[in-house]
Amino acid sequence: MRLMSRSVEPPRVLNIEDLRRAAKRRLPRVVFDYIDGGAEDEWTLRANCRAFEAVTLRPRCAVATPMCDLRTTVLGTSLPMPLILAPVGSCRLMYPRGEEAAARAAGAAGIIYTLSTLSGCRLEDVGAASKGPVWYQLYLVGGRDCALAAIERARNAEFSALVVTIDTAVAGMRERDIRNGAKELLGGKLGAMLPFVNQLVTKPRWLAAFLADGGLMKFENVVIPGKGPMLYADVTAALEQSVVTWDDLTWIREAWKGPVVIKGIHTGEDARRAVDVGASALVVSNHGGRQLDRVAPTLQILPEVAASVGDRIEVMLDGGIRRGSDIVKALCLGARAVMAGRAYAYGLGAAGSAGVARAIEILRTDLVRTLKLLGCASVAELDHSFVDIPQDWIGK
Ligand SMILES: Cc1cc2nc3c(=O)[nH]c(=O)nc-3n(C[C@H](O)[C@H](O)[C@H](O)COP(=O)(O)O)c2cc1C
Repeated sequence: MRLMSRSVEPPRVLNIEDLRRAAKRRLPRVVFDYIDGGAEDEWTLRANCRAFEAVTLRPRCAVATPMCDLRTTVLGTSLPMPLILAPVGSCRLMYPRGEEAAARAAGAAGIIYTLSTLSGCRLEDVGAASKGPVWYQLYLVGGRDCALAAIERARNAEFSALVVTIDTAVAGMRERDIRNGAKELLGGKLGAMLPFVNQLVTKPRWLAAFLADGGLMKFENVVIPGKGPMLYADVTAALEQSVVTWDDLTWIREAWKGPVVIKGIHTGEDARRAVDVGASALVVSNHGGRQLDRVAPTLQILPEVAASVGDRIEVMLDGGIRRGSDIVKALCLGARAVMAGRAYAYGLGAAGSAGVARAIEILRTDLVRTLKLLGCASVAELDHSFVDIPQDWIGK
């Protein structure tokens, strides 16, 4: 299967921002803004990226690095590069069978794909679409029995880790979604949809593909006992009734039995709690600035988190990864690997699997070039000595 498509090849698409623009051209505004937007003032969304800009690199020049070793190990799985695709919900709005398309591209590159609970493709089909490792991200929407059933299905389908997202007590206030009429368009009532429907009809290629894919998806992995898959329109209320607490981690771990990753760590204190509940890994994450606005950017709190847990748990980071040099900076400050969300979601929205493959390739080639220019032969050698961080981050 050919994953590349001319629409995302060079010279048209050289970086993630080019993929973002391509996604904007293909998708209706309501779908593009769902990917691109953040909560409230979008301060944290911007701060995540600005934090990478604030950290500068310290290269060692006149060093020959003909080969660069990008390999790393996460939860005992060896990976060809320190990049994991983050859980991104509702990918079937972006591209037909979106989660399968993204998993296929990740698998072809040998990297981990994380499937969101809020996905339109059955987890078994997503597992089968990827040749590589897959993780399942758990929300407790639909209640405990529903989560237990999904856990059982994920285990049978050979998902190798469970990612529990803990920063979603309620859905963040995403103002772009409200202005674009996301709720009205998803509600299916013609009268309410009418003022917003122009966004869809002006993207006929997207609309035809969306309708051919079955139109508005259901959440195939949230199967409510006696009712079937959860309807799209019910998700916001369901999220609010399904807060994950530290106590839940006990039964989740018992039910899953395999490695648990806690996603949504903002402080050293919560990082230590993740260790205490027996998690195998954590992700320093603010949901890409989509939940609580005005929290500190993830790169800035990474050193605090890494110092507070030491080697007791594997530390990852997400939020703002747009360049291979961003991955380098996160590794220098203590992450074992990073997760990327929007970087590949833009690719998916632009060109399906081919766009996701292009996003991964952009980040991989960036990473190699950055390491060579830094005079560093391997991601394992990256440490604080390769970066300068802003003075006011020190001591926090
Ligand atoms: C469109 C979109 C949907 C998302 N859906 C989920 C989700 O269902 N579950 C989850 O844990 N995180 C979700 N996230 C957050 C990502 O997993 C990740 O934390 C975030 O995208 C990282 O920031 P970045 O987009 O700057 O890479 C979503 C992010 C985006 C952009």
